Amino acid sequence: MTIRFDDRVAIVTGAGNGLGRSHALALAARGAKVVINDLGGARDGSGASSDAALNVVEEIKAAGGTAMANGANVAAYDQVKDMVKQTINAWGRIDILVNNAGILRDKTFAKMEIEDFARVMDVHVMGSMQCTKAVWGVMREQSYGRIAMTTSSSGLYGNFGQANYGAAKMALIGLMNTLHLEGQKYHIHVNALAPCAATRMTEELMPEEALSLLTPEAVSAGLLYLVSEKAPSRTILDAGAGTYACTKIFETTGVYFKPQDQTPENIAAHWSEICDTSGQSAPGQGADQTMKMLHNAATDRGISLG
Ligand code: NAI
Repeated sequence: MTIRFDDRVAIVTGAGNGLGRSHALALAARGAKVVINDLGGARDGSGASSDAALNVVEEIKAAGGTAMANGANVAAYDQVKDMVKQTINAWGRIDILVNNAGILRDKTFAKMEIEDFARVMDVHVMGSMQCTKAVWGVMREQSYGRIAMTTSSSGLYGNFGQANYGAAKMALIGLMNTLHLEGQKYHIHVNALAPCAATRMTEELMPEEALSLLTPEAVSAGLLYLVSEKAPSRTILDAGAGTYACTKIFETTGVYFKPQDQTPENIAAHWSEICDTSGQSAPGQGADQTMKMLHNAATDRGISLG
């Protein structure tokens, strides 16, 4: 079945360039009305210009689609609230939010200034949270919403020189996990995309032959599924150069020790058993872990938890 977005309204942050532009063009091509948000700064977050967003709006209009530009800085809540107001005034609803805007301030942790850490956290974490907060009430009232966070392999697995960026990108997984639970009742699905694409963010990192394989369009196909009506929720989709995979957070079964055996030495002695992945599971929420731990201890002691 063809995935369409007719009558859907989407906000894509950082849509003036790179992946955001590609997501916006793809959404508009399948019928969505799209807000092209972009502050228009440099890769490190300095400066601002409306040109990039306006160019994408023109491109969408030229192809017969519907779009409008917005220059809000996602890290400034007042501007974000105005963007949401502007969208509601124009199109009456907001179905899709793609939190894509991002900056880089790569440095080894030894050389990283507090400001480099704070700016990156501000744009990725506070920016995504503020845009989500501003549309949350609208989506609850509509009883429909699709929100995508943009995470990164850097946060999921680590990357040399990206302590700030990695911390920010992993924080978005924590935000997704809880918003998935709180949004369920209102049919708000929250997912995360871990992209890999040739953009100004990555153009210096790889040779030309590799960059030519890493098309933004391949990533946008995955993003479109994550914000579609049939989208899953609380998933991390890894997408790049035509490969699509999921990253999952599992917990091993673990080992229970009686009170007298709960020592660091015993933990060291059983380390491979503690880390054994056979029988591992993906808890549905934090409380599942607590219940597993309490169940093991209560069973051993013959206590009924009620
Ligand atoms: P890009 O630099 O081409 O695009 C980012 C856009 O965000 C720019 O147009 C920029 O003006 C905008 N932006 C930055 N700060 C903003 C703010 N405060 N408010 C509004 N707009 C702002 O980068 P790219 O590669 O397209 O990145 C898009 C997202 O994907 C980012 O979140 C990035 O961290 C993430 N990502 C990209 C990867 C890649 O391989 N390109 C890998 C992993 C994650």
